[in-house]
Amino acid sequence: MATKISEKLFLNSEERIRSVKKMFAQIAPRYDFMNRLMSWGLDIAWRRIAIRMAKFQPGCRILDLGTGSGDMAAELCQQIPDCTILAYDNCPELLEIGQKRKEFQKYSNLVHWLIGDGRFLPFREQLFDGVVAAFSIRNMPDLPLVFAELYRITVPKGKIVILDMVQPAPKLYQFLFKFYFKWIVPIWGKLLGSHSEAYRYLYPSIKNFYSEKKIIEALKEIGCKQVISKKIIFQMVTVCIGIK
Ligand SMILES: C[S@@+](CC[C@H](N)C(=O)[O-])C[C@H]1O[C@@H](n2cnc3c(N)ncnc32)[C@H](O)[C@@H]1O
Repeated sequence: MATKISEKLFLNSEERIRSVKKMFAQIAPRYDFMNRLMSWGLDIAWRRIAIRMAKFQPGCRILDLGTGSGDMAAELCQQIPDCTILAYDNCPELLEIGQKRKEFQKYSNLVHWLIGDGRFLPFREQLFDGVVAAFSIRNMPDLPLVFAELYRITVPKGKIVILDMVQPAPKLYQFLFKFYFKWIVPIWGKLLGSHSEAYRYLYPSIKNFYSEKKIIEALKEIGCKQVISKKIIFQMVTVCIGIK
């Protein structure tokens, strides 16, 4: 029997990777549209805030881990002059959509696309001035390994930027959050012809992910000397930046 998408969090690492990859491939054609709809268009502003907070220098080299269709890479190109971006993801279908986006036509020499697993980054130590991971590491198993890899490939004083959804602490926000992501979003997914199972996965994926406090701890544990963080939109989204 096929594994239900909402159960994929409890699979072993390799099965989870395969299952999540298949899910993103299935929703790839509607991925950008659903993102805008679910976030009421605010996801663009969240990425913008995260990159502004990081204060990357012109000309820097950045890894966009779990780039998907390249929203974060596009924002980086707009905000940071002459940066070089490695847009990295294990879902070829999403990368292909990203590569074809017209925003990237004028930045084609700045953005490089690569397929690969977030747990095993095929780069030498200290290659990147920064790493950004927007809404991506929540989908990956073996998070301590992923965090260690991010640290390894970042230069000293470089920045590791995690932007993701987290469960809000206040009970009222928790209730609204659960209601919206557990019930409303999957219905939209179904009505709009996307895979409702994939959108049913969203709520458990956030619920079982690290809290903001745990992300900060993880960044400190790998060796970041300083961590700054900011909660946005009813504490449902967090930006955590670890400085190596
Ligand atoms: C919710 S999307 C976020 C995409 C993009 N960063 C954004 O801001 O819209 C999560 C992304 O993480 C990628 N991903 C999930 N597991 C991965 C893994 N193990 N290795 C690399 N990428 C992975 C997915 O393919 C997907 O593109």
